[in-house]
Amino acid sequence: MAAPHVLVFPFPIQGHINCLLNFANALVDAGVHVTFLHTEHNLRRVASGAGSPHLRFLSVPDGLPDDHPRTAAYLPDLYKSLAAGTRGPFRDLLARSSSLVADAAGVDEPTGDFPPVTCLVADGLLGWAVEVADELGVPAIVMRTASACSLLAFLSVPKLFELGELPFPVGGDLDEPVRGVPGMETILRRRDLPSHCRRPNATYEVNPGLHALAKLSADSSKARALVLNTTPTLERTALEHIAPRVRDLFAIGPLHAMSSTAASSSLLREDGGCMAWLDAQAADRSVVYASLGSLATITREQFAELFAGLVATGYPFLWVLRPDMVADAAALEDEAVREAGGGGGSSKACVVAWAPQREVLRHRAVGCFLTHAGWNSTLEAIVDGVPTVCWPSSADQQMNSRFVGAVWRTGLDMKDRSRSSSTAMAGEAHVLVFPVPAQGHINAMLPFAAALLDAGVFVTFLHTDHNSRRASSVAA
Ligand code: UDX
Repeated sequence: MAAPHVLVFPFPIQGHINCLLNFANALVDAGVHVTFLHTEHNLRRVASGAGSPHLRFLSVPDGLPDDHPRTAAYLPDLYKSLAAGTRGPFRDLLARSSSLVADAAGVDEPTGDFPPVTCLVADGLLGWAVEVADELGVPAIVMRTASACSLLAFLSVPKLFELGELPFPVGGDLDEPVRGVPGMETILRRRDLPSHCRRPNATYEVNPGLHALAKLSADSSKARALVLNTTPTLERTALEHIAPRVRDLFAIGPLHAMSSTAASSSLLREDGGCMAWLDAQAADRSVVYASLGSLATITREQFAELFAGLVATGYPFLWVLRPDMVADAAALEDEAVREAGGGGGSSKACVVAWAPQREVLRHRAVGCFLTHAGWNSTLEAIVDGVPTVCWPSSADQQMNSRFVGAVWRTGLDMKDRSRSSSTAMAGEAHVLVFPVPAQGHINAMLPFAAALLDAGVFVTFLHTDHNSRRASSVAA
C-alpha cells in the first residue's frame, strides 16, 4: 500500500492558510507526507521554512495579473479567477502527483522523494478542486476554517428564508431573537447572524455573498468528509446539529495548539520589535493587544474611535495597523504613536504592521485582546487564556463574538456599539431634522433630535441661516 501523502490546498488568504498549515503540520507530526499548495503570488511572499523533510511547498497560478492588489475588497475577483484560471494547472499538478496516474504510468515516485499523492484536503471555498479530484479518482475531503456555529448558521439560511426570518425587515429591531438555527434559539439575535444577513433585501441579485456562502456550506456538507478546526468542548451543540447533515464530520481543533512542527505561513513580514517592547513592560497582564486580523478594513472615523478608546483605557497598547487596513495607515501610525506618548523604551503604545500574534498572546505582559473575532484569533486567545473584547467586522465574526460573550464567556461582545460601526443597518445612521423655523416648532423637534442621539443615531438639525445666527445651540 502506498505511503500516505496528502495534498493540502487552502483558499489563498492568511486566515485560511494559517488554519490549513496547522492541519498540515499535525499530519507531518503523525508521519504523513504533505504537499502544501500556495498560489505563486503567495509562495513568493511567504517565509515558509519547511521544518520537516515530509513537508514541501508547491504553487499554482491564481489567475490574477501580477499587479492586482489582492486586498480584501477584491476577494470576489480572487474567488472567480481561482475557479476559472487555476483549475487547469491544478488538474495537471494533481494528475502528475496522484497515485492512480503514477500507477497507470508504472512510476513509483513521480515527484522526487515524495510518494504519490493519495488524498486531497481542500478548503471549503475551493469546491472546484474537489470536483477535479473526483474526476481523477483521488479521494478528497473538505476543510472549513470557520467556527461550527457559523457553518450551522449558513447551512440554516434556506430555513431562515422559509420561516420569514430573512430578509430582515427594513428598520427592524436587530435585538429580536432568531428562529431557525437549531439549538441556538435562545442565543441568537438578528445582529448575531453572519454579517451577510443584514441587507433588508436579500434576493440573490442584491446579496450574492449570502447565497454563495449558503451554497458553499451546503456543498461542503456533501463531501466524503468534513473537517472543522473546532472542538466539542466549545461547540458540541453546533456539531451535533451539523453531523446528521454531512457524510462524516471531524472536529479536530484547536489545530494551532496541536502541532510541534513550526512551518510558518505569514504573508506579511512580522515585526518582532514589538516583542522587545512587550518585554520592557514591567507589569504582567497590563497591555491591550489590538488586531483586526488579515482582512478587516476600517474607516478613518473608526480608526479615530478605536484609537480614542485604546488611549482612554489608560493601559499601554500594542496595535496592529496593517498598511491596507485604513487609508493613510503610515501617517496614522506615526500620529498614533506620537499622541499616545510613544517613541522610546517606556512608550505607552507600540504600533506595527503585523505582529507574531501567537507569541504576543503568550506573552506575560498581555492582559486583553481587542479583536475582530476571526475564528483563528478567537481560538488562539481562548487557548492562551487571554480575554477578548470583540468588535466583529464581517462574515462569521458576528457569530463568534456572540458565543464569546454569551456562551463561552471568555470575553465581551461589543458588536454595533461604536457609532461609526461599518455593520450598522443601512438607513439607521443619520437623520436630518428640519423644523419650521419658528420657536414652537424648533422647541418641539429638538427633544426628538435628542432622543435620536440617545439611541445612537447621528443627527443634523437644520436651522435657517437667520435662526442659526441667533440660536445658542451647543452640539451634544
Ligand atoms: C478570516 C476569518 O475572519 C476567519 O473567521 C476565517 O475562519 C478565516 O479567515 P482573518 O479575518 O484574517 O481570517 O482572522 P483570523 O481568523 O483571526 O486569522 C488571522 C490570523 O493571522 C491568526 O492566525 C493570527 O494569529 C494571525 N495574525 C494576525 C498574525 O500572525 N499577526 C497579526 O498581526 C495579526
